[in-house]
Amino acid sequence: MQIADGIFYVGVNDHQLDLFEGQYIVPNGMAYNSYVIVDDKIAVMDSVDANFGDEWIAKIEEVLDGRTPDYLIVQHMEPDHSANITTFTDRYPDAVVVGSVGAFNMMQNYFGTKFEGRNLVVKEGDTLSLGSKELSFIAAPNVHWPEVIFTYVAADKVLFSADAFGKFGALDVDEDWDCEARRYYFGIVGKFGAPVQKVLAKVAKLDVQVICPLHGPILSEDLGHYIGQYQTWSSYGVETPGVVIAYSSVYGHTKEAVELLAQTLKDKGCPRVVVTDLARDDQAEAVEDAFRHGHLVLATTTYCGGVFPAMDQFIHHLIDHAFQKRTVAFVENGSWMPAATKGMRALMDKCANITYTEHNVTVKGSLNDASRAQIDALADELVAQF
Ligand code: FEO
Repeated sequence: MQIADGIFYVGVNDHQLDLFEGQYIVPNGMAYNSYVIVDDKIAVMDSVDANFGDEWIAKIEEVLDGRTPDYLIVQHMEPDHSANITTFTDRYPDAVVVGSVGAFNMMQNYFGTKFEGRNLVVKEGDTLSLGSKELSFIAAPNVHWPEVIFTYVAADKVLFSADAFGKFGALDVDEDWDCEARRYYFGIVGKFGAPVQKVLAKVAKLDVQVICPLHGPILSEDLGHYIGQYQTWSSYGVETPGVVIAYSSVYGHTKEAVELLAQTLKDKGCPRVVVTDLARDDQAEAVEDAFRHGHLVLATTTYCGGVFPAMDQFIHHLIDHAFQKRTVAFVENGSWMPAATKGMRALMDKCANITYTEHNVTVKGSLNDASRAQIDALADELVAQF
């Protein structure tokens, strides 16, 4: 597939993967993107996952039709992109490996070599001429690892963006970009809002017409939408007004309280209500929903004097991913000594800029008039904020 004059796609689709990065379900697979830039000199942009070395090399050779690459540009050292670096260097012994100093330190750790004698260390602002095309390197630390660089080709207005603007899903499956790009972003890059903001400011100074990420489709239309989404996500802004109710329930009574709250919110005019069962639904989707909306209700049972495990795990995901700038309410259930709200509040206090609602809900076993009244009061308070 040709992307621009002399720029070709040589990535692969993975439909065998059970969990991406050991934890994320990928119902539509995963794409590991790689690109070839053909000029007087030839550069290959990143390698692919360990299971696809032969397919990747075959694609490179089909594009090059007898020529051999001069450079392998290593933008990111996570193994989904770096696992086949030595496949490449063995196959093309005269090619030079290009990357940041951090990338070469990681190559030492992964491969036991920094490819001395055939390496080129680059940093922010450095350029590499291929002939008529010049590669400009942009430091993008922590998007998603510290060694990451982006690469810009001004001649074609193409930005190679490493993990940024990537998504879950193989390229032979047609699906909405936003949903799986958002789940990917908040699961994998979401903790690094400030570094993403820094690199977006650098990208804003460039004339970009095509974005080539390491996952997901090549973006060549409506770039303002994708960049706008990244601006919102990386600044922890609210993308969609609404309330997310994330819950766990043991015998169904907490679920009943959640369903009543959801219905009451809708009846009172809440613009959007999302309900997720933390024990049964994909928690990465729940994390994505929590970041997407401005209001979060955490509902769970008291367990061992604290918080039920599924909720405890979810809140730790939020903490780990720098959840912030949101309004949070609590629904607790406890048959003899409700303590879940205290436990959830102690955890949520680790997140920055959280506003807590005045009203919360305590259920003692099952709903009664008192807890129904609390649900009504909480719904009033939340709806008044839209
Ligand atoms: Fe796609 Fe951070 O690796």
